[in-house]
Amino acid sequence: MRGKFIVLEGPDRCGKSTQAKLLYNYLLEKGFDVVLTREPGGTKIAEQIREILLKPELDVRPVAELLLYEASRAQHTQEKIIPALQEGKMVICERYTMSTSAYQGYARGLDLKMIDTLNHIATTGLTPDLTLVFLMSDKYFSSRGEYLFSDRLEREDKEFRDSMRQGYKNLAAKTENAYLLEADDDVDSIHRRVVELLEKHHITDLCPSKKS
Ligand SMILES: Nc1ncnc2c1ncn2[C@@H]1O[C@H](COP(=O)(O)OP(=O)(O)O)[C@@H](O)[C@H]1O
Ligand SMILES: [Mg+2]
Repeated sequence: MRGKFIVLEGPDRCGKSTQAKLLYNYLLEKGFDVVLTREPGGTKIAEQIREILLKPELDVRPVAELLLYEASRAQHTQEKIIPALQEGKMVICERYTMSTSAYQGYARGLDLKMIDTLNHIATTGLTPDLTLVFLMSDKYFSSRGEYLFSDRLEREDKEFRDSMRQGYKNLAAKTENAYLLEADDDVDSIHRRVVELLEKHHITDLCPSKKS
């Protein structure tokens, strides 16, 4: 039996890293073997692809951007996620296939079916056991963290963010084991909701890697 794959999704600054770390520590304390990783990136090659993707000065065209995300995902899935799951570990990943559908599909307008096909190729059919989709209202966007315009995606305008947010809502509604979480709430309430969802899906009682 394999470990469990938990994915955190949502726009920039909705609290994915914050919740991923809280969840990581929670599971470690419970005695699980846990891998915390992220996309794009997660392995040496995939992190190098991430650098290209997040450099604002590079004029990466939409289809090239999509293929770079999928290349990064293919490497990350094969090299890190699947081996960890096979060893019975819990894998927590910030962003996965839903981000690509939301950003490159809903927001940039690339064909969603094409993205589904590429996601399937990159993941070899691996799907999360639980997908947590964090959405916050736009009014919180610029108040969270410094507004640095640090990379290309963060510079996109409000219309882009609205399409992407609507995309996440549609995707969460049609994806198995996916939940929308209210990211305007305080950090601890959100963490409690995350733990409830893990329990609901028997993620913590079924994982085989739990140390005795
Ligand atoms: N529930 C929350 N309420 C208020 N601020 C938050 C909350 N969750 C995260 N933050 C803050 O918002 C910023 C972005 O959070 P982060 O976890 O890095 O988001 P992401 O990984 O989705 O980009 C950080 O400064 C973080 O401390
Ligand atoms: Mg983050």
